[in-house]
Amino acid sequence: MSIVIITAGKETTGWAKALKAKRPELEVLVHPDVVAKDKVEFALTWGHPLGVFKEYPNIKCIASMGAGVDHILRDPELPASATITKLEDPNLTRDMGLFVVALVLNHMRNLTAHKLSQQQHNWNRKRYLTTEDTTIGIMGMGTLGTHAACLLTNLGFKVNGWARTEKQLADVKVYKGEEELDSFLAKSDILICLLPLTPQTENILNKHTLNKLPKNAYVINVARGKHLVDEDLITLLDSGHLEGASLDVFREEPLPKDHPFWNHPKINITPHIASITDPASAATQVLDNYDRLQRGEPLKNIVSLKLGY
Ligand code: GLV
Repeated sequence: MSIVIITAGKETTGWAKALKAKRPELEVLVHPDVVAKDKVEFALTWGHPLGVFKEYPNIKCIASMGAGVDHILRDPELPASATITKLEDPNLTRDMGLFVVALVLNHMRNLTAHKLSQQQHNWNRKRYLTTEDTTIGIMGMGTLGTHAACLLTNLGFKVNGWARTEKQLADVKVYKGEEELDSFLAKSDILICLLPLTPQTENILNKHTLNKLPKNAYVINVARGKHLVDEDLITLLDSGHLEGASLDVFREEPLPKDHPFWNHPKINITPHIASITDPASAATQVLDNYDRLQRGEPLKNIVSLKLGY
């Protein structure tokens, strides 16, 4: 019995160690150092080389090392026989929630601006936003979005959500679909993107949608770089319509050294660290699905190929 780890570029030792620690008898292989590829049924992946699964004719499960699966679904040659699964790790959800709260508070209390004032020895008492002044809009009301909404409502914010389908949540009004997007945007003083990346959501943060936000709105993208049209964000920041943006994800990562985001005074950059999978915590659910596969039981956290998440 074996699991193969397939990734182009991501570190594999942490995962291999975590899986072995929990299951010493398991054979943990790392692509391409696999002799009997036809014996492998379970792959754990992040950004695999396109077409690689043609080398593994008996793959039955392709498990993502993270919450997102766009890095798997981008491959047009996925084996039809394989089930794709994602992680729904409580630690990932917790860390994302706290990071989003940190960015919201950083913006509201001008912490970055005060740091700059400090560097100039400048006693600059800026007005700050309060929870009463600020409605937060969360795009994407899956596990991560719902948890972030819950933390923010507990802090006293008014929070709205936007989702593809109807959702009922205490204390959060969830707007639905294309038809309610404009009304949702018009109320979002701080917009947080936590959407999965699919053909429907790619480039969803563009000049048309960002223009619908109230004047001086703030944009937080902690989902995927391809949700955002970079030039459109810069245009709306420069025109003064938007107050600023915090970006953790980029179309190309690492963000190229000459990208205009780096030096933009209204953009706050972090290097895709909002929520990082801890293999020691996530290995349990990977092994649970591995065991289910051996027993012929339904897997957990299955990705819908039609929806793309
Ligand atoms: C991180 O970006 C993830 O999808 O887990």
